[in-house]
Amino acid sequence: MKYSQRVTARLIRLAHGLHPALAPSVVALAASPGKSLRASLLAACGRLGLPDEQRLVRLGAIVELIHLASLLHDDVIDGAEVRRGAPAAHVVVGGEAATLAGLACFALVGTETADLDEGLARIVGDAVAGLSYGELMDVERAFDTELPLSVYTELAARKTGDLFGLACVLGAVEGGAADEHVRAAARFGKALGVAFQILDDCLDLESDGVDKPLHTDLRLGLFGAPVLCALRRDTSGELAGLLLSPSLDESAVPQVHRMIVECRGLEEARELAGRWYEDALAELDPLPAGTARDELLATASGMWRGRAR
Ligand code: FPP
Ligand code: MG
Repeated sequence: MKYSQRVTARLIRLAHGLHPALAPSVVALAASPGKSLRASLLAACGRLGLPDEQRLVRLGAIVELIHLASLLHDDVIDGAEVRRGAPAAHVVVGGEAATLAGLACFALVGTETADLDEGLARIVGDAVAGLSYGELMDVERAFDTELPLSVYTELAARKTGDLFGLACVLGAVEGGAADEHVRAAARFGKALGVAFQILDDCLDLESDGVDKPLHTDLRLGLFGAPVLCALRRDTSGELAGLLLSPSLDESAVPQVHRMIVECRGLEEARELAGRWYEDALAELDPLPAGTARDELLATASGMWRGRAR
């Protein structure tokens, strides 16, 4: 069985261990795993040394479980109705039950981590605290048309980069990598996470609408890189006016979308993502040539090709 399939199997098994009233939301998400990108990064970093394969699977399930917990909460916070092409958990079971399922997942992360290695619990806790702060920054910037790009990238680094970084650190530590390699892997993961988040924010304007609905962030006032880049170019203030107008209803959305494209918002956001992606790749330089570096490069470029259009 492939590594990602073993991680998914472990994840589903863990989810089934939750209270039966909370398990179904988690099992449903676990059974529809996406690309398990975070676990793949972890496994690749494990190759910096000689990891125990079974522990690598369990650690992979831990980072994917954190991801699931954060998505359960994020969909409640964003009021998003679709996740991975299916109704979001809170749409099915209600906001309270979905939030508590996320909390139960996170508790499971704690027990699983402690079971593997008490020492890792602090690293995991720190990363999740970073994620939570990033999500708070995400909520608080709503409808801020003057949000500096530097604050946006800090938000992306916390909300998404911290979990990518954690995956790399857990893998590298498990493999027994040298400290300087663990640090380089952490920086690589963090920068790749920022690139991923910027591309994810582009998808709000260019998704095919199947896995991810269009214009959700736009309607919520969660202005990501493409919108912020377009706003900087629109000296007329028309775009900001439209974005803040209480009547940003269905009829205005196509016009806003058009303006973002005309003001080169998507183009510039992709360039910005490209710079973070290149920065991430540069962090691989100090790593020894071999399987880990090759796998990290392959995983990163797969992510880039899959997301950058
Ligand atoms: C998706 O972002 C959400 C995140 C990257 C992180 C969410 C983090 C939390 C809710 C805090 C951590 C909580 C726990 C329990 C671990 P997005 O809304 O930009 O992406 P989307 O379009 O896929 O929803
Ligand atoms: Mg969301």
